[in-house]
Amino acid sequence: MSAPNKQYDPVEVAALSAEAVAAARDEALAAIAAARSLDDLKAVRVAHAGDRSALALANAEIGALPPQARAEAGKRVGAARRDVAQALSQRQEVLESERDRRVLEEERVDVTLPWDRAPRGAEHPVTMTSQRLTDVFVAMGYEVAEGPEVEAEWYNFDALNFPPDHPAREMQDTFFVAGPEASARSGIVLRTHTSPVQIRAMLTRPLPLYVVSPGKCFRSDALDATHSPVFHQIECLAVDEGLTMADLRGAINAFVEAMFGEGLRTRLRPDFFPFTEPSADVSMECHVCRGASTRPGGAPCRVCRSQGWIEIAGCGMVNPKVLVACGIDPDRYSGFAFGLGIERSLMIRHGVTDIRDTLEGDVRFSRAFGMEI
Ligand code: PHE
Repeated sequence: MSAPNKQYDPVEVAALSAEAVAAARDEALAAIAAARSLDDLKAVRVAHAGDRSALALANAEIGALPPQARAEAGKRVGAARRDVAQALSQRQEVLESERDRRVLEEERVDVTLPWDRAPRGAEHPVTMTSQRLTDVFVAMGYEVAEGPEVEAEWYNFDALNFPPDHPAREMQDTFFVAGPEASARSGIVLRTHTSPVQIRAMLTRPLPLYVVSPGKCFRSDALDATHSPVFHQIECLAVDEGLTMADLRGAINAFVEAMFGEGLRTRLRPDFFPFTEPSADVSMECHVCRGASTRPGGAPCRVCRSQGWIEIAGCGMVNPKVLVACGIDPDRYSGFAFGLGIERSLMIRHGVTDIRDTLEGDVRFSRAFGMEI
């Protein structure tokens, strides 16, 4: 601020001339009118109405005028500043309502649009396969039987005629559940197959008996493309008067046709299981090449590795010792059983080459089974 002027010096107070004040006001009004946004207007406010604006500086100069000139200059500058303040607040109002209208428009929600539904989830392909397999037996009149996954060694091994020193009982194959003292055997295992459910069924259900038992099993295998420490089996057991291997064969054929395709032949080859006698492994004709890959000129088949046959199950006539262990008279009753891996069936049926795909929970794998997830 200049020192008070004793003599009126028009040069020093040029900023207060009518023209200068009008020019500053007009410039401010033009800038206000030109502001396109609230941000623009903020900058205009600082430039034309802020402390360093021409009109604010002019206002500060009033004190430097000789008293006789102050009133008039004060009025002039005051009027100009009021005009500018009024224009600013009017423009502010206009721009604010424009912004509000735009926001309402841009952020409009159409409440009539169909909503984005939360995915419902779906059954896992292993569950789906398990149910499909179970249904085949249920349709043949079998009942579904289930048993515990944490099982007494007696059901899992002893009652099934595994001798006490059978290698399957080794720690390498079986998960033992620790007893109160970790060193002592608790007699409890994670079941290594679904066969203990056979025992439970024979001990509790009336004869004749036709049951199918799907379920989770555990073996201390390292995880690789074809092994998993946790997997699923499904087992079928029939105990009745006069059952023979022909009945076993018939049940297997019905099941293979329902699961893998009409007219597929099956083959039994001698095998050994402690709980069946005689025992056999079950192969089915390859459902992809139907044996063509083994014939001269036939294209190689990836599914059966051009063997023409695929091993799918273990089977046999229930060992009379097992019937006796369950209090069933082996002279009157006979039984057959077969068991197979559910993941393996799924892999064969759908050409899956790595069992880990069934474990990892990647929905892209499940989606390939045509399920809504
Ligand atoms: N329990 C046998 C296994 O886990 C399969 C099987 C079941 C074999 C029933 C014969 C009869 O390998």
